[in-house]
Formats: sequence, C-alpha cells, structure tokens
Amino acid sequence: MDRLTRKYIIGWLNTDKPEDLFRTADKIRKAYCTDKIHIRGIIEFSNHCKRDCLYCGLRKSNKNITRYRMDEAEILHSAVKAGNLGYKTILLQSGEDEAYSIDRLCRVVSSIKKKVDCAITLSIGEKSLDDYKRLKEAGADRYLLRFETSDEKLFKKLKPDSSYKSRLSCIENLIKLGYQVGSGIIVGLPGQAFETLADDILLMKKLELDMIGIGPFLPHHNTPLCAAPSGTLDLTLRVLSLIRIAMPDTHIPATTAVGTVDATGRQQALKCGCNVIMPNITPSKYRKFYEIYPDKICIGEKLSDCRSCVEKIIKSLGRNISKDYGHSLNKKPQTF
Ligand code: 5AD
Ligand code: FES
Repeated sequence: MDRLTRKYIIGWLNTDKPEDLFRTADKIRKAYCTDKIHIRGIIEFSNHCKRDCLYCGLRKSNKNITRYRMDEAEILHSAVKAGNLGYKTILLQSGEDEAYSIDRLCRVVSSIKKKVDCAITLSIGEKSLDDYKRLKEAGADRYLLRFETSDEKLFKKLKPDSSYKSRLSCIENLIKLGYQVGSGIIVGLPGQAFETLADDILLMKKLELDMIGIGPFLPHHNTPLCAAPSGTLDLTLRVLSLIRIAMPDTHIPATTAVGTVDATGRQQALKCGCNVIMPNITPSKYRKFYEIYPDKICIGEKLSDCRSCVEKIIKSLGRNISKDYGHSLNKKPQTF
C-alpha cells in the first residue's frame, strides 16, 4: 500500500467527506477478513495498578476507587463459564498488579488451557522478556500492549513512570517470542496532532501487528485530565478505516470505548474495518470497579447478557460469529 504516506493519512483525517474512506475500509475488511466477526471474552481480573498514567481511572493516585482482585479459582470459574458459552478466546486483562506473581499467572493460564478449549490473550502490562517467555510456555497465545502514542514527548507526559523505549522493547520482545501481538493507541488525547496519528498508524504497520485496538479518549473525573475534551467517534472511525487500509488482514476490534462514546459506536466501527468484538465476561459484582474511563458500557450486565447483546449487533449487520479461535491471519498459529 504505497499510497499510504503520512500526507495521505493526514488528508483523510482532515477531509469533510470521510464516507469514501469508510466504504473502502469496509470493502477491504470484507475481502480479507470475510463477514466473520471474532468474539473475545474479557475477564478484568484486577483493577490494582502500580502506574500513574494521567488518562486512566485505574491510576494508583486515584483513591476514589474500590480496588478488587479475583483469585485463581474465580478467574478459572469465569473462564470455564465463558468456554461453555462458546467463547474461543479468553482475554485476561488487569492493571499492572504485582500481587500476581509470574508463577501465579502461569498457573492461571495453564489451568484455563487444561479446562477450556480456547486461545488465551493477556493484557497485563510491561514485563521482562523472561516473564513473557514463561507465560508463553504456560499456554498464552497472544498479548495486547498498546503503545498509546508514538510521540515520545507526549508519552512521557501522559505516562510519567514508564518510557516509550521500554514499552516498544516489550512489544518487540513479545513479537520475538512468537506471540500474536496487539497494540494500539488512544484517539483524541490532549496534545495529539493529526501528524501524531499518522505516525501512530505508520508505526503499527511497521510492527506488522496481528491485532490493533484503539478507542476514543474519554476523560475520567478522578484524573488530572478530567477537564480535557473527549475524543470523537468521527475521528476514531477515520483512524480505524486508515488502519484497515494500511493493514488489510490484521484483527481490529470495535472496542468498548467506541461503544461508550456513542451508543451505536461499535456498529459503526464494524462498518469501518473492524472484524472483532470483545464482550465483557467479568463477574458483574466487579465490573463497575474496572473504571478506566467513566460510563463504560456493559456494567451490571450478567455474563450472558453481553453475549446476546453482541449477537444482536452482529446479526443486525448481516454478519456472523466466527466459531474458530480467530488466530492471526498474517501468522501461523504457534501453539495449536
Ligand atoms: N479513555 C480511553 N481509553 C483509555 N485507556 C486508558 N484510559 C483511557 C481513557 N481515559 C485505554 C488505554 C489502555 C487500555 C486498556 O485502555 O489505551 O491501554
Ligand atoms: Fe455488553 Fe452489550 S456488549 S451489554
């Protein structure tokens, strides 16, 4: 896709008429990913976090949050339930919580793998190469670690206790270890220019990511960015479309944040290049506490509710649910 220059991307981010862009992305999605939508069940197993990212409601300085941790048995129980509902991918997500040792996390992964016929995706933050290696050996197939922004200065401002270089080196380590790797950004961060977004998309392409997750910035009242304006659905749809054009066969979810900024956000995203949706399967008693940003959808729903809600969305679009693991389309599966 030689046309995909920085200038071309910026042009589409600026245009008055993005409909052609959306249509092209939808066509490419159909050609490369078919009408199948992969569903991934997310278990948000801990909202403790050692980091202090300025945008995130789980940041350690936020004292106005009820913190929780699910124990190994609870996580396994949720995963088994999800398996019985037909989920073929289970995504384990948490803040960066050191209360879970690598031994403990490996036990969780391998016990799920023993009991449930599924792929496992981890989204648990920055870890050492050796930790990533052990988790992979325990049975983890995929890993999500957004780089959040490719603007190093903005990164430092928003993630004061992390560094862009170490985050990128984590992503490279995950790729080296043979994980199917996902990354992504937040759209509409304060201080993010269209040029930044263009560089973000070009970096995603360079990394040859298997999955790309993005969502609009949603200001959280208990963070330093509480007064910043929210990212928009329109800009998010443009970025999603450009990502699909840049990477025809990567998996792109219509994220919860897109569904939060607009009630039909996920439906629209699925028409702008997305081919994945990630229903929340966290036990309902914990869900409201995983408040990365406010007014998150799916709070208070029962385990099966998200599933039926998502099925309705998929059906209304004339698409169908994939029954396979939904491995990367640009790499051979490693562990099956
Ligand atoms: N608005 C939107 N997305 C956010 N994330 C964190 N805080 C916010 C927010 N306020 C995203 C980050 C993180 C993912 C789990 O959630 O990109 O990687
Ligand atoms: Fe969770 Fe609709 S996907 S309620």
